[in-house]
Amino acid sequence: MRKQIKNNVSWVGYIDWELETFHGDDYSIFNGSSQNAYLVEEEKTVLIDTIWTPHRFDFVENLKKEIDLNKIDYIIANHGECDHSGALTALMAEIPETPIYCTAQCVKSLEGQYGKRGWNFNVVKTGDTLEIGNGKKLVFIEMKMLHWPDSMATYMTGDNILFSNDAFGQHFAVEELYNDKADQCLLYKEAVKYFTNILNPFAPLITKKLDEIASLNLPIDIIAPSHGAIWRDRPMQIVEKYAQWADAYQENQVVVAYDTMWEGTTKIAHRIAEEIHRQSPDTVVKVFNIAKADKNEIMTEVFKSKAIAVGSPTVSNSILSSVAGWLEFLKQLKFKNKRAAAFGCYGWSGESVKILQERLRDAGFDVVEENIRSLWNPEETDLANVPALVRALLQK
Ligand code: FEO
Repeated sequence: MRKQIKNNVSWVGYIDWELETFHGDDYSIFNGSSQNAYLVEEEKTVLIDTIWTPHRFDFVENLKKEIDLNKIDYIIANHGECDHSGALTALMAEIPETPIYCTAQCVKSLEGQYGKRGWNFNVVKTGDTLEIGNGKKLVFIEMKMLHWPDSMATYMTGDNILFSNDAFGQHFAVEELYNDKADQCLLYKEAVKYFTNILNPFAPLITKKLDEIASLNLPIDIIAPSHGAIWRDRPMQIVEKYAQWADAYQENQVVVAYDTMWEGTTKIAHRIAEEIHRQSPDTVVKVFNIAKADKNEIMTEVFKSKAIAVGSPTVSNSILSSVAGWLEFLKQLKFKNKRAAAFGCYGWSGESVKILQERLRDAGFDVVEENIRSLWNPEETDLANVPALVRALLQK
């Protein structure tokens, strides 16, 4: 069912209340999600993006109830990833000649995924425009590596809508569609989780892109992303947040993250958390068992932190596989301007702390030398070093 966004612009996407993961199982979803597609019906009729592959036939059938598909003059593919292009195959089977406007990289992406089907591609780049009648036009803005090489945004003049695709989105289902209708706490929780886990690796590019968009001096009344709530109430609020988040963001928070075999490393983790609170009562402390907590949620809290302490016991001359996998993900996210410390128990060889320090350095953290390395269960003599570790982590 279509939902009107503004004047002749409607939402024709899919709200997925049951979706639990994204990017395979790499991104957890706890509050549903949506794939937002948009229909513009000026003198020309334009479809902006589609939805994910599993729902492609429903998408086409629903669209048929709204318009005669042959009336679609142009299709805009802002991004080739299958959560937005997945219904193209079913749609193009019905209207094979309809021109598709997208970046050169998007042609490669679409043909790579769906094969060369002879679709009528029209390659666009930043600044290119498409007249759609009634004095309105679409302006294309490449969003390279935000978050794929093919990503693009489309701006509609007259109604001043920025169809931003993945940027400014959230994996969050909102039936009423709009940011002012959503639970504000959840909206920002999901927006920052999305930024952390999908966009943070490209933070330097985001800063440049936001400057570039600002230099275009486009009035923006609505930001319509391809996932989650549409920003119609003070839409620039999310742009301002992105500018902050992309600039080595941190709050007065510390994460303690660990896994344990027989609770010794847990004891150290809890003592570190207590000591952070003792030394700095205003600092928010969050403690996670890496093997039990959701990795995307932990990373979001790491993103908001100024420092982290990471623990693992030594096992087979190394660290627990849960922590090793987590550290690999930590490295991918390219956090900046954060301190880190390492801790862990051991029974004989005791390599874990050194390995944790190396991996944390490799992930771009400023690793403090102070650590807790405890032979067997931590005794008070081992824990005596906790205050020094915390002082190093909290140093100005
Ligand atoms: Fe929502 Fe990059 O796809």
